Amino acid sequence: MARTCVGIVGAGPAGLVLAHLLADHGVECVVLEQKSRAYVEKRVRAGLLEHRTVALLDERGLAERLRAEGQVHRGVELRFAGERHRIPYTELYGGREMVVYAQQELVADLIGLWLARGGELAFEAEDVSLHGIDGERPELRWRAAGRDERLACEFVAGCDGYHGVSRGAVPDGVLRVHELALPFAWVGVLAAVAPSTEEIIYAHHADGFAGHMLRSAAVSRFYLQTTPDDPIERWPDGRIWEELARRLATRDGWKLREGPVLEKNVTDMRSFVVEPMQFGRLFLAGDAAHIVPPTGAKGLNLAVADARVLADALAARVRRNDPAPLEAYSATCLRRVWRVQEFSSWMTWLIHRLPAELPDRELRERLQRAQLEYLFASRAAMASFAENYVGIEGF
Ligand code: APR
Repeated sequence: MARTCVGIVGAGPAGLVLAHLLADHGVECVVLEQKSRAYVEKRVRAGLLEHRTVALLDERGLAERLRAEGQVHRGVELRFAGERHRIPYTELYGGREMVVYAQQELVADLIGLWLARGGELAFEAEDVSLHGIDGERPELRWRAAGRDERLACEFVAGCDGYHGVSRGAVPDGVLRVHELALPFAWVGVLAAVAPSTEEIIYAHHADGFAGHMLRSAAVSRFYLQTTPDDPIERWPDGRIWEELARRLATRDGWKLREGPVLEKNVTDMRSFVVEPMQFGRLFLAGDAAHIVPPTGAKGLNLAVADARVLADALAARVRRNDPAPLEAYSATCLRRVWRVQEFSSWMTWLIHRLPAELPDRELRERLQRAQLEYLFASRAAMASFAENYVGIEGF
């Protein structure tokens, strides 16, 4: 049976960054991924990197293409009642910048660099299962090319996302599950059109939120608020452009470019956290342990932050026989996870149209307006937004 120190389930941002950082520490690991390389390198997801995510990737020599092709951002635009309000977050938060770089590009870089440094990664690992995670010698089993495979590990990292198997391997009743479905959903659109803006736009509108995100010079990402049960079939391309143009419209006549829709889907919104993020020798990281509403684009950055804490903690345990950081892994991450959950939830309720069935809706709309007006009028409020949006240090 093959042996390693850390068996990593999932080759998303959490699993791949963890693998690289463990290797930097001289800790052996193997990554198992159920999908093919081509699939994971093309899967469109997030794309906004916090200052500290970029700093970590830079520091570890993983950011060459990101630096060459990513777009540096220093501010974001919020639109309300047809007015534009820029939040210069770099100026407000110590010169910290963000980078727009598509998640699938980052995943492709991390995979390429991992294989180039001789890292082990099994794609198309079917039916991965976890065994003995509450004992001294956990084991991963899977099928590959019709053959049964087994891997003896000292530790297992569950980096297989919300729908993965790792979290399910924890016995019932051990994890405290916090889950809240938000009464909003997004129609996500990827279009082959040059962006109509240099900075990300979040627009509050009476017909619902609209977002103009960026991906590259030729491809743009848009989001439109809808209801959780709304089928994508109800969003023909023509309606999408019409809604985007109306909801993003400004008094100064800003124009939206239109182009061919490459992809569109409806995603629901929820806050999800499991506590603790560890059981025995299994450690959960990224979406396997928590999901944040996509509003603040925090999911990817949280996954990378977990991977960093876990890599350092595993290295302390394996290389220096110091168990303390690993014992504190969950508490360390959850402090940041709840900070980000709170900010993402607050921002979601701030810029979305409130659902018709919400009790005291009119009063809550007034409160929402008051919050927005305060945000645009107060440098202190903007600075608080900036530090949370960019990624608050110390959490
Ligand atoms: N066996 C092996 N691999 C699995 C299994 C399984 N049973 N289930 C899922 N996986 C793989 C998925 O195919 C995916 O490549 O685990 C990986 C999990 O990656 P992500 O879902 O990207 O999760 P994570 O690394 O935590 O990154 C979170 O990614 O999805 C975005 O919005 C999310 O930005 C957030 C970030």
